[in-house]
Amino acid sequence: MIPCDLAAVPQGVDMAAKVPHIVLGVTGSIAAYKAAELVRQMRRRNWAVSVVMTRAATEFVTLLTFQTLSRNAVGTGLFDEKDGWHPEHIAYADRADVLVIAPCTANVMAKLAHGLADDLLTCTALATRAPVVIAPAMNVKMWEHAATQANVALLKSRGVTLAGPAQGDLACGYEGNGRMVEPDEIVRAVAAILATGAGKKESKR
Ligand SMILES: Cc1cc2nc3c(=O)[nH]c(=O)nc-3n(C[C@H](O)[C@H](O)[C@H](O)COP(=O)(O)O)c2cc1C
Repeated sequence: MIPCDLAAVPQGVDMAAKVPHIVLGVTGSIAAYKAAELVRQMRRRNWAVSVVMTRAATEFVTLLTFQTLSRNAVGTGLFDEKDGWHPEHIAYADRADVLVIAPCTANVMAKLAHGLADDLLTCTALATRAPVVIAPAMNVKMWEHAATQANVALLKSRGVTLAGPAQGDLACGYEGNGRMVEPDEIVRAVAAILATGAGKKESKR
C-alpha cells in the first residue's frame, strides 16, 4: 500500500485546494465493468479515487484496471497491510469524503444494513462517517425479494443515498428493475453531496 493521500492527488491539481477523496467500493456483480468508467468520470472531475474491491469483484474485473484508472493503489484484502501500523480499513474510512459502492450486490447491501464487517469494504463502511452512496445491481428477483427491500428501507432510514437501480434488460436474461444506473448518474449524486459540504467527516476523531 502506497502512502495514499499524496499518490491520490490528480496530476496538475493545486495542492492548496482540497481535492475530494472518493473511496469507491466495487462488488461482485456483472456490472463491475461499469465501475471502470465511473472511475474515469470521477478523475475527470479531479476527484481523488481509492478503489476497494471485494474478492468476488476481482472475478469480474482486474485490480490492474482500477489501479491504472484511479492512479492509486487498490485495496482488496483485510489483512494485506504489511507496511504501516494503521489498519487499512480505518485509513480508507478516514480518507473518504464520500464512500460510493457501485455496483453494490445484494450481499453487500445486506451486510451494510446489518453492520456486518467481514472484509475490507464492509469494515471500511462500518468505520467511516462519510456519506454513503450505493448503486445496487442485481437480478430483478433478488432486488424485489422481501429481504433486499427490508435492507433498502433500513439503509435509507440511516441516510444512505441510493442511486438506482434502473429498469431494463438484465445481464442474467431477465428484464426489470435491477440494472446499475449509468456512471454519470452516480457522479451527479456524489457531486450533489459534495456541494452541500456534507462530504466532510466532522465526527472523524
Ligand atoms: C456471473 C455472476 C453474476 C452475478 N451478478 C450479481 C449481481 O449483479 N448482483 C448481485 O447481487 N450478485 C451477483 N452475483 C452473485 C455475487 O457475486 C455473490 O453474491 C457474491 O458472494 C458477492 O460477493 P460480494 O458481495 O462480497 O462482492 C453474481 C454471480 C455470478 C456468478
